[in-house]
Amino acid sequence: MDTFAIPRSVEWRETHITILNQQKLPLATEYIDLHTLEDVYDAIASLKVRGAPAIGITAAYGLALAASHYKAETVHEFHSRLKQDRDYLASARPTAVNLVWALDRLTAAAKDAASVNEAKTALIHEAIRIQIEDEDVCRRIGEHALSLFRPGDRVMTICNAGSIATARYGTALAPFYLAKEKGIELSVYALETRPVLQGARLTAWELMQAGVDVTLITDNMAAQTIKAKGIRAIIVGADRIAQNGDTANKIGTFGLALLAKSFGIPFYVAAPLSTIDLATKTGADIPIEERHPDEVTHLAGVRVAPEGVNVYNPAFDVTPNELITAIITEKGIVRGHYETALPSLFTKEEHH
Ligand code: MRU
Repeated sequence: MDTFAIPRSVEWRETHITILNQQKLPLATEYIDLHTLEDVYDAIASLKVRGAPAIGITAAYGLALAASHYKAETVHEFHSRLKQDRDYLASARPTAVNLVWALDRLTAAAKDAASVNEAKTALIHEAIRIQIEDEDVCRRIGEHALSLFRPGDRVMTICNAGSIATARYGTALAPFYLAKEKGIELSVYALETRPVLQGARLTAWELMQAGVDVTLITDNMAAQTIKAKGIRAIIVGADRIAQNGDTANKIGTFGLALLAKSFGIPFYVAAPLSTIDLATKTGADIPIEERHPDEVTHLAGVRVAPEGVNVYNPAFDVTPNELITAIITEKGIVRGHYETALPSLFTKEEHH
């Protein structure tokens, strides 16, 4: 069966960008067209498109689209507009480094253009390249990750690090799609992932469409499920990995890493090199997004907590490197010694 009946999260249409509205899933499969820089900013900030690589891809197309309309007379003028728009989009969400990584890659691609038109074309080509590369990168991550599992394994995950969070395949979910392709049975236990339920709404939806065995639990069922169901490993995605391996990912990830240690099971982080930020030395330097209290006080738009209650709503947490058994990238699996091992990935040739 084609495991990829799963819709693409982002599509470049030359005059606009079409995204799958992830806010509406799984109740509606709705696509929306983004025409302006403000549309793109809003789509990212409001989680219509979310997941670190998908945010980067969308922002890249957004910048290329905005720049295609510049009336700049000189390359210099073009670059100063580009810088303004780059900074605006970069501020849409703070934690996932793929956002600034993609925007900076675009800016660099247009840097040496001899004319405004050449710069516009360079931006579009680079954005398309980022999306194409991400699909290949995710597949490689999936192949490496799959080597860590045995047929029949039950594996836990949080949030959605799946196909719609990337160009295709996902990061933490990629091994399950590849296992399905190869006829290897793996079972996934997905945490619903409060406050906005990426696990219940997106991971469950994606995996079911691909025919992957998935069981949904609420976040507070993790320890009981590991014990009762014999969970063999936990695998998660990442929004930013510091040079020392400290990893920011969806709120609740740190708790799962502590549980993994307590139960003596491996805790894996699956992420592309574009999520590794060598300029961020440790997790203490990663900005953690705090979102609107309504996400906590309301469920599907219905108030469930008393009016006026104090709310703390961090969207991410940081798992310290010592709790991470391995980081799985497109260039292979790194186990510990992250501070030196992660920088070396950026130069090392790939070994299969
Ligand atoms: O707030 P979100 O839904 O953008 O958070 C997403 C995550 O935490 C994912 O695990 C991460 O971005 C990796 S996506 C391949």
